[in-house]
Amino acid sequence: MGRLKGKVAIITGGASGIGEKIVQRFHEENAIVIAADINEQALKQISKEQVHGKKLDVTSEEDWKRLVDEVKSEFGKIDILVNNAGISTEKTIEQIDYHEWEKLSKINGFGALLGLKYVAPEMAAANKGSIVNLSSVTALTGMGLNTYTASKGAVRAFSKAAAVEFGGSGVRVNAVFPGVIATPMTEGLEESGEALARINAMTPMQRLGQPEEVANAILFLASDEASYITGAELAIDGGYSAL
Ligand SMILES: NC(=O)c1ccc[n+]([C@@H]2O[C@H](COP(=O)([O-])OP(=O)(O)OC[C@H]3O[C@@H](n4cnc5c(N)ncnc54)[C@H](O)[C@@H]3O)[C@@H](O)[C@H]2O)c1
Repeated sequence: MGRLKGKVAIITGGASGIGEKIVQRFHEENAIVIAADINEQALKQISKEQVHGKKLDVTSEEDWKRLVDEVKSEFGKIDILVNNAGISTEKTIEQIDYHEWEKLSKINGFGALLGLKYVAPEMAAANKGSIVNLSSVTALTGMGLNTYTASKGAVRAFSKAAAVEFGGSGVRVNAVFPGVIATPMTEGLEESGEALARINAMTPMQRLGQPEEVANAILFLASDEASYITGAELAIDGGYSAL
């Protein structure tokens, strides 16, 4: 309790899966949490005292400007941003088209980049802040999911670039690389015994990860406990990328 006391944190995609768990863990550690998501219905269910649901389409510059203005006027500052919102696809290279590429790149890549664009300068002005970007183990390995992999590779690359650009301003930027985590995004996989057995066989720890296991690692990187860590890459994958 209290590891994020006094901090104001924005979590994108905070209404479901990993994002919802990050919201819960940050709340337990006494942060003021802004759960920002495109799904307003789901947001209503998680909003409570010190957890504020706010509508955000991460691909919209107007939405980001409005969100940053609202958070600054309501809470005075932004200490933490977790760029977590994302979508997936299972299409193969032969099945993809430009529309597919654009959609994945726009939400997973450009959406997180806009978070950096609008939040990092606010943090830099205060000379402190922590940003955690959700990439994926697919950006480290040949796990497949091609357009998804490419979008998460972009997140990996610009996380390092942002760490360099903002390092002198006291803003830390780190990236995490979850393996297969049991959330609504991977429900189909969990329902297929064969696919699940295949993933488990390729994972040294022989099981899927749980959203709270990702949330706990992000909590550390977001907190002052990680005060000298920036530009880092942390796999949270049960050893998948170590094989
Ligand atoms: N689940 C996994 O196995 C896994 C593995 C590696 C990385 N990730 C990444 O972790 C993040 C969270 O994934 P999850 O499994 O919790 O997914 P999820 O589908 O449970 O949740 C994703 C959330 O993002 C929101 N969202 C989608 N598009 C948005 C937009 N344009 N603007 C704002 N919000 C939007 C959705 O409404 C939803 O609440 C994603 O970036 C995902 O790529 C997940």
